[in-house]
Amino acid sequence: MPLIDWLLAPLSGASTHQIAPWVSWHARFMVLGWGLLLPLGALMARFFKVTPSQGWPLRLDNKFWWHTDRGLQWSGVVAMTVGLVLAWRGAQGATELARIHAVAGWVLCAAGWAQVLGTLLRGSSGGPAAPQMRGDHYDMTRRRLLFERVHKSVGWLCVIAAIGVIVLGLVMADAPRWMLVVMGLWWGLLACAFAVLQKRGRCIDTYQALWGPDPIHPGNQKPPVGWGVRRPFD
Ligand code: HEM
Ligand code: HEM
Repeated sequence: MPLIDWLLAPLSGASTHQIAPWVSWHARFMVLGWGLLLPLGALMARFFKVTPSQGWPLRLDNKFWWHTDRGLQWSGVVAMTVGLVLAWRGAQGATELARIHAVAGWVLCAAGWAQVLGTLLRGSSGGPAAPQMRGDHYDMTRRRLLFERVHKSVGWLCVIAAIGVIVLGLVMADAPRWMLVVMGLWWGLLACAFAVLQKRGRCIDTYQALWGPDPIHPGNQKPPVGWGVRRPFD
């Protein structure tokens, strides 16, 4: 079938396609980490702090997002690191594209690890259910505000930049066309999911998701961090 033949052919249209095994494993791990797990983790973190059937704000602090998000972000970082180790020293930088891919790839992975470091430095939690009421998150201290601003903006920038780095990698490796088609469809699906969930008002402020809308809580006197974040009872 002409369509199947077209999809199976390399992007350049060449009749043969051969790449070193380390390149295919590098690509698989990077697509798993930066193409699949980390964007899904970001979506979960944004839209599933409160689930539709939870009965919020009567039932607070739904742990579903916390566990899935942490699982996705951590496994994404591990997959990315394996992908990086596989590519390390394999690169020859023979073309301009390869050099751009390598520099952008290193920056992206450094930013990924900086995100992990940021979460470790985000301070204490606190709140009515914790042994100590006072905490960086409960009080929305400068430290917590800085973490949320930096982690959210760097995180989304990385998710978007990763699209470019993955496309560059596929073009450099002259991958079969179906790979680019599948990735394009997947990113399209993620973008639609983002738009629908955002429109439905599912991006609820983390602070209120955890402690509810009562103005007695100190963080409710400060505006939420980030674009399009909703506080349904304000
Ligand atoms: C592996 C350790 C990580 C942990 C424990 C973690 C934890 C968190 C937490 C607690 C939040 C919620 C912040 C808030 O709303 O107050 C969050 C949000 C977010 N994380 Fe991570 N994160 C990790 C790694 C990453 C990485 C590597 C990325 C890079 C893509 C990332 C991207 C994001 C994004 C984009 C958001 C914001 C979602 C929104 O718009 O609300 N995270 N993460
Ligand atoms: C966001 C995902 C990706 C990241 C972060 C990334 C990162 C990197 C890095 C840092 C290097 C250079 C390693 C060194 O300095 O020794 C590299 C090289 C390479 N990557 Fe990726 N990569 C990604 C996705 C891909 C994909 C999907 C492919 C497709 C096959 C690919 C193919 C290659 C190739 C062929 C090289 C060697 C380039 C050369 O010879 O100079 N990468 N990658």
